[in-house]
Amino acid sequence: MVLQPQVKILIRRDQIAKAVDRLASEIKRDYQDKQPLLIGVLKGSFVFMADLIRQLDSPLELDFVRLSSYGAARESSGKVRVIQGVKTPVKGKDVLVIEDIVDTGITISFLLDYLKKKRPASLKLCALTDKPSRRKVPVPIDYLGFTVPNEFVVGYGLDCDQRFRNLPDICILEEY
Ligand code: IMP
Repeated sequence: MVLQPQVKILIRRDQIAKAVDRLASEIKRDYQDKQPLLIGVLKGSFVFMADLIRQLDSPLELDFVRLSSYGAARESSGKVRVIQGVKTPVKGKDVLVIEDIVDTGITISFLLDYLKKKRPASLKLCALTDKPSRRKVPVPIDYLGFTVPNEFVVGYGLDCDQRFRNLPDICILEEY
């Protein structure tokens, strides 16, 4: 018999929707006369990004990057690789990175360095969730949805071994 994983709701879908509205208002206020380039970090950010961009009714560009540091495990290997780089020219653009979760900070600080080298006009970070108790590298988060406890969270795009991304709420994975 396959054991059913135990998930417990941490952040409900209505709370997520409210946070997405708030973040969209903050972003719209700050990018009023600009046409930002939003760069989503695959795969975890795709659900969040899909909801967020539909609340941003001003013109924007969109691209994705894919990085690897976790493999199939829950712990970061600490070594980040670019699997799919940004295709849209970044130089001179107002770049806003969209990330699902900042944990140790290793992945996102690597990405911010990688993008800085491409000389954007500005570079900011929007993260759905932050797990500050696990931080190893300081990361300035310009727009933040939620601070989460030191638990492994899944759902709303976040996975464990590629599973649970389709859960509409953000959940704690209690047993796997
Ligand atoms: P960091 O480099 O340790 O900050 O890890 C960031 C990446 O690890 C995120 O983009 C996620 O893909 C993954 N990650 C870290 N914590 C969690 C979690 O609790 N649930 C799901 N993925 C996580």
